Amino acid sequence: MPDWKVPLADVVVPEDDIDAVSEVYRSGWLSMGPQTEALERDFERFTGAHHALAVANGTAALHLICAAAGLGAGDEVVVPSLTFVATVNAVAYTGATPVFADVVSLTEPWLDPDAVAAVMGERTRAIMTMAYGGHPGRTEDLATMAREHGIALLEDAAHAAGTRVRGRHLGTFGLGGAFSFFSNKNLAVGEGGMVVTDDDEAAARMRLLRSHGMTTLTWDRHRGHASGYDVVDVGFNYRIDEPRAALAARRLQRLDAENAQRGGLDARYRELLAGVSGLTPALAPVRDAQLAHHLFTVVLDEDVDRAGFRDALATRGIQTSVHYPPAHRFSIYAGARELPVTDDYAARTVTLPMFATMTSGQQDEVVDAIRAALDVAALAR
Ligand SMILES: Cc1ncc(COP(=O)(O)O)c(C=O)c1O
Repeated sequence: MPDWKVPLADVVVPEDDIDAVSEVYRSGWLSMGPQTEALERDFERFTGAHHALAVANGTAALHLICAAAGLGAGDEVVVPSLTFVATVNAVAYTGATPVFADVVSLTEPWLDPDAVAAVMGERTRAIMTMAYGGHPGRTEDLATMAREHGIALLEDAAHAAGTRVRGRHLGTFGLGGAFSFFSNKNLAVGEGGMVVTDDDEAAARMRLLRSHGMTTLTWDRHRGHASGYDVVDVGFNYRIDEPRAALAARRLQRLDAENAQRGGLDARYRELLAGVSGLTPALAPVRDAQLAHHLFTVVLDEDVDRAGFRDALATRGIQTSVHYPPAHRFSIYAGARELPVTDDYAARTVTLPMFATMTSGQQDEVVDAIRAALDVAALAR
């Protein structure tokens, strides 16, 4: 792994978190049990959702919310292409067909309700949103559209742990929300995830599907709360384990404070980049929302060579990324309709380093490197 001076993201696990996880290992119970139950109650309080179910990873969470919506062969689900491919694959797991829709603009890279309306048809059973960078985008409008059409809104909230709009947490605007605890996320555990829903029936279905469609858990039987089980559905093993649940619960306690630190860095990036020509910051904060600030992305001017720009930053030890290669361009989803705004954004975006413990010195280094790279790019024009 290269030793970046300023990495894209950084995971810091304090000693007392390590101690707490070690305690779990000493407890003699490692599979889903009391730590997982405590995390779920904490997550319900944190998001305001009626039900939270911890799972093995964010992709499993996405699959469960798709299954809870009853999707199957012959159904269509409107999805963004500008997302991690898991959003789209989760729809395909159910046999339903993902139908791509374009995003709003180069600085608002989330589903455009007009583009969604344009691709909806008789077979549309759900809209799947993705809160890009933890931004709510047009979630509220899409929730209204879904309600009016009598279809489900499903939320990929993998980036959005801690994002609230007028106090309401993302992931709770539709039938179900899916979160990821992958190691580059704001709530980083390594692998892990969570589904949330207010719908009792959906929660019951997802609980069954999480563990093989079995009516009781090993933990229930261990405590003497059950002696046997029935299997009532073709389920999966999407369970999390206790050490990861314990780590997630500890990180959750710090999440709002860490997101606020990210918010400070986001604002400072915008100030420092305000006079710099050659790029435009995307994902402007909105009023009445508390944001996760998962990503800080910029869009380069059309005539700036992105590969050269990224190489120049890498030479100075600054890691960047691209979120995302659009899913409709992958071979597996080839043949989809044209998405001009998605393609334009995907060709010109760069993700800059963003993590709660980033220092202003590190941020200055990023901005200095950007200025230098763009000066060279300007001379080359
Ligand atoms: C937008 C988005 N959706 C889904 C996922 C899948 O989550 P996981 O890696 O936990 O399966 C990720 C991250 O990896 C993601 O960024």
